Amino acid sequence: MVIPANPEKSVSSHDSGMEWWKKTTVYQIYLRSFFDTNADGIGDIQGIIEKLDYLKDLGYETLWISPFTQSPQRDFGYDISDYHSISPQYGDMETFEKLVQEVHSRNMKLVFDLVLNHTSNEHSWFKESASSRNNPKADWYIWKDGKGRNGMTPPNNWRAMAGNRAWTYYPERRQFNYTAFLPFQPDLNYHNPEVKQTMFDVARFWLNKGVDGFRLDIISAIYEDPELCRNPASFRITPSDKSLTIFFQNLKNNFLQAKSFEFATELRSVIDEFDHPKRVLIGESHGNEELISQFCYSNGKNGLNAIFLFKAISMPFKAEKYREMLMTFEKHFPEPLIPTLVFANHDRTRIITRLGGSIEKAKLLALFQFTCRGIPFTYFGDEIGIPRVRIPLRQGKDAIAIQHKWVPQFLVDNSVEILNRDECRTPMLWNEKANAGFCTDSAEPWLPVAKNFKEINVEKQRGEPHSLLNFYKKVIHLRNETPALHQGSLEIAHDLCTKRILAYYRVYQAEKYMVMLNMSNSRAINPMKDVELLLSTHPQGEAHRLQPFEGRVMKLGSA
Ligand code: BGC
Repeated sequence: MVIPANPEKSVSSHDSGMEWWKKTTVYQIYLRSFFDTNADGIGDIQGIIEKLDYLKDLGYETLWISPFTQSPQRDFGYDISDYHSISPQYGDMETFEKLVQEVHSRNMKLVFDLVLNHTSNEHSWFKESASSRNNPKADWYIWKDGKGRNGMTPPNNWRAMAGNRAWTYYPERRQFNYTAFLPFQPDLNYHNPEVKQTMFDVARFWLNKGVDGFRLDIISAIYEDPELCRNPASFRITPSDKSLTIFFQNLKNNFLQAKSFEFATELRSVIDEFDHPKRVLIGESHGNEELISQFCYSNGKNGLNAIFLFKAISMPFKAEKYREMLMTFEKHFPEPLIPTLVFANHDRTRIITRLGGSIEKAKLLALFQFTCRGIPFTYFGDEIGIPRVRIPLRQGKDAIAIQHKWVPQFLVDNSVEILNRDECRTPMLWNEKANAGFCTDSAEPWLPVAKNFKEINVEKQRGEPHSLLNFYKKVIHLRNETPALHQGSLEIAHDLCTKRILAYYRVYQAEKYMVMLNMSNSRAINPMKDVELLLSTHPQGEAHRLQPFEGRVMKLGSA
């Protein structure tokens, strides 16, 4: 147990003044793929404005949008060439300001991806830095001499998160440059105070425009070991919640450094300058929960408000595994900290595909996600069950796919995990018109639209009372209307949990609720008597038995 007493001072779940971000629900919009209003086949900011009522009606409060500032788009906005202006393919500043205003007028919140760790190699800062060893920005990025007789051997064995070598040679400086991700995304040097202040001012610039906070891209990489110690080998290929590993290397010395946790507390003081309303920082980090919880609280100081937890994304759909996961989250993110409940994003496979196409399981998962203690995140389109759209690696637009196009296709086809991230970024399915209503008939969507869009789309599911979409709506509204579900404490009902059943209570003041999930394909006894059934994934079920993959929310008497 790492959380010392009293972080996030003076707020407890029994205080009706709980901060908004602890009670919120988040909908992630991959901007390029959401809604295109200018017929170029690419989603835009105006498209979000036009769909705000859809999101409000579903009950979401917070929107998280992928990056939209100037970028060569080699990593679709995660490679920034100017932090202060909007990429024309997405709109302009005026439209962005309108978005902020429209979101707030609906009592909603807006956060976006702040990419602090790296810029594009086309950013003017980098061009200057790369041009010589003695220009004013020479020390803004991470440059090191090579090893060996002619200095052509990289400084050490570090790999980047995207699988490539972390070092790229630049003849102009006769030095190697470091990246934590792809070679065209050089890491900024946060040991340089000028860099830190400049980037804090970038955050202030957007906070002054009224944004409610940021999702901090790849914050785990913000510092590296200054001694450049070698990384140890590992048996794993991909990162897990236990260690940050890539292609048989544990990224121990270039990720998750103690200084990164200190940085989180500094950044927190920046957002705390903006008080009305309070802003939020949600960091992206793989790694062991005990370690990464230090992003939220370290050395007696509050840091990030929450951390994007990857554990749930690849968790097998099994009651025992989910129970263990809840125990881990409660252990490392006890009140007043808060875990996040994340099952998908723009880098990972689609939920419905992971669940073998089962709508029953998808509803059960939504029930879990919106009734647990934590901040639930929905990746756009998962509320209607958009599947992974198979796109061969060789046709990939995603830079990771391009980098891995040598990998035999059958290996990726047989894996649940994707290597071509285009497969989870295909356009939103709005209706059964051409291009699923994402863009006009005459436009060419930037990625193919899922073939089954006539069966799976928002308009159709709106009209079906038992659709996945309508289930999302019901469970989100129930959560919003029930204090115990959005701000109560969580107690796992260990005595009722079995190999097939997961059960937990949510408690707030005198109110007590039970959530029971049958995560198996056989029926199970529901031992709860004298309860009021508030919501079931199977509205036609039997009172004393749970159907296969049925989940229920029940209200109990006084706690
Ligand atoms: C984002 C990716 C992005 C990478 C580099 C990640 O963690 O989620 O989409 O490619 O950071 O910025």
